[in-house]
Amino acid sequence: MDAIPRLTVLISGSGSTLQNLIERTASGDLPASIVGVVASRAGIFGLARAERAGLRAAIVERKPQETFSERVFATIRETAPDLVILAGWLHLLTIPPDFENRVLNIHPSLLPAFGGAGMYGRRVHEAVLASGATVSGCTVHFADNTYDTGPIVLRREVPVWADDTPDTLSLRVQAAECEAYPAAIRRILSELRHSR
Ligand code: GRF
Repeated sequence: MDAIPRLTVLISGSGSTLQNLIERTASGDLPASIVGVVASRAGIFGLARAERAGLRAAIVERKPQETFSERVFATIRETAPDLVILAGWLHLLTIPPDFENRVLNIHPSLLPAFGGAGMYGRRVHEAVLASGATVSGCTVHFADNTYDTGPIVLRREVPVWADDTPDTLSLRVQAAECEAYPAAIRRILSELRHSR
């Protein structure tokens, strides 16, 4: 691993998670460097954030679907990352052997609750509120080849208040994510460093 660990960040949307990582790496709170951004479509706000931060960014078109995952990892390999960070990335990937245990995801619930296909964004918070749960949170986990099932690195809890709406709950969970993701990445990078 380089003296400064290398992160490649995958985005599909507004890039708020990417923005947090840009700020945490710039401040030194997360001692790593973002060496590339891969987007699953053009025109998303996350790409504007990448550009503003001067990051190298690539767009990988989803079609043809059969080769999407391979093309994503070919693009990732060009940036030679130590870790791949899914940051609001919405597509299932087939993790190739050279990236096993090196792809992290963050999900806005306490997995295994409220995960799986179709459980993303606002829908997660709607489901949490409908269930009557009094605690929610976020989970950082290794990505494997199904949605939201890989080994858990860490979870952070937040309370659910009786008068919460999906929007208010989402803001509280996002604030927890901003601490949880850098903490999980620091932990995994330190384990990688000690295993090499
Ligand atoms: C967050 O809720 C995160 O848990 C999920 O995507 C959301 C952020 O999307 N994986 P973005 O970074 O604003 O695009």
